[in-house]
Amino acid sequence: MLWRISVPAGAEPTPEKVLLGEKLFNDQRLSVDDTVSCSTCHEPRKGFVDGKALSTGIKGQQVTRNSPTVLNAMFNATQFWDGRAGTLEDQAKLPILNPREMGMPSPEAVVTKVRAIPEYAAEFKQVFGREVTYDDLASAIAAFERTQFSGSARFDTFIHGDAKALNASEKRGWALFNGKARCNTCHAANIASPLFSDQKFHNIGIAAHKQNFVELAREALKVVRTGDEQQIDELALETKFSELGRFLVTKQENDVGTFKTPTLRNVGITGPYMHDGSLTTLWDVIDHYNKGGVPNPYLDGGMQRLGLTEPEIDDVVAFLFALTDERFAQFNQQELARQRGRKNNRPERDTAVALGKKGHLGDLAPNPDLEQKNPAELGVYGAETSLQTAEKK
Ligand code: HEC
Ligand code: HEC
Repeated sequence: MLWRISVPAGAEPTPEKVLLGEKLFNDQRLSVDDTVSCSTCHEPRKGFVDGKALSTGIKGQQVTRNSPTVLNAMFNATQFWDGRAGTLEDQAKLPILNPREMGMPSPEAVVTKVRAIPEYAAEFKQVFGREVTYDDLASAIAAFERTQFSGSARFDTFIHGDAKALNASEKRGWALFNGKARCNTCHAANIASPLFSDQKFHNIGIAAHKQNFVELAREALKVVRTGDEQQIDELALETKFSELGRFLVTKQENDVGTFKTPTLRNVGITGPYMHDGSLTTLWDVIDHYNKGGVPNPYLDGGMQRLGLTEPEIDDVVAFLFALTDERFAQFNQQELARQRGRKNNRPERDTAVALGKKGHLGDLAPNPDLEQKNPAELGVYGAETSLQTAEKK
């Protein structure tokens, strides 16, 4: 059902279109020097990411952002960390033309190049009934991406009634996620919206160490042309203005340094984390939240110190690793072991601030009481069930 409403009318994938899209997704000939394909930065066997902090395109050039997964991207309300593209079709057209990613000079140049490849000339005819166009190329790639559904993690088995699917630590982690750790204020999940994302934009203080946001925003206002997707793409991936996030799209002051809340599905295998890949492990991520993020004038009001103890941090991390699709189970185990190996190297940790012994304070959320409540009923999944019951009455 969710899948059906997220496919635009006329963009329903057919098997032939999906196959063509998959081939294009993996084809380096879509780049100017035949070295980079979509899968260079979104490797299917790695959970459709590249495992790097910042992605690398043609001629070894780095972009200023981390590659998000394509798994479940079909459900995103907007695409990119700043939401600058509305659909998968719009999204797919940009990296091919971005000078640091695939570097093709224009849509016409792409069309000319692909038309000259005999197998594509034939396949586009067969699938679309006409010669290659840039729109059709994007449409085929998007059709392939819409087959990349991911919804079978151990968490799903658990939430659908198998209490044994999660171990004790993971269950405590899920309870903390919805309680003391307050993750659900932005990463809530429920039956109608199972991505662990509110699809909104928040400044959680990731770029704050490095930036004078106010000055940067003032400078950006002088250069941003409204409504120009391609200009925003280049500013976002190639310049210091990248850190302004959603502001580049809306020019609204309250969007300075805000980025889209990403899905947490498969997060165990899609590190490094955040729009700039600056956090290496999920322990670093929780350390960042535990101290209330990094203060800056635009920090989201939902960011507060959490007061999580070390065992509680371990529990939240354990829970996050239970959100990985079963098809990546083995890779997930490897990643967990690798991240655990770095557990004593924790640049983001500031226990004194997190526990309220120093720095900015606020009330802590209470610890969830697992004796009283079945953890499967915690959080919005539980609330959803009571909503549905209310509806039936
Ligand atoms: C050089 C590496 C690179 C290449 C090549 C590349 N991407 Fe990406 N992709 C990224 C990065 C980095 C982002 C995030 C950029 C941003 O948000 O500003 C991204 C974002 C996306 C998103 C948005 C996901 C989300 O959650 O918002 C999708 C979908 C996507 N890419 C698909 C593709 C497709 C399809 C292609 C080929 C046509 C492609 N990418 C080529 C690195 C790359
Ligand atoms: C105020 C809203 C908010 C709260 C509360 C919040 N997050 Fe986030 N989360 C975000 C946003 C926005 C990002 C992306 C930020 C960026 O890249 O600048 C993010 C990024 C992440 C990432 C990185 C994912 C990736 O693919 O790079 C993880 C993991 C994560 N959050 C887990 C959590 C956990 C666990 C909690 C609770 C301890 C939590 N979040 C609380 C909004 C929030």
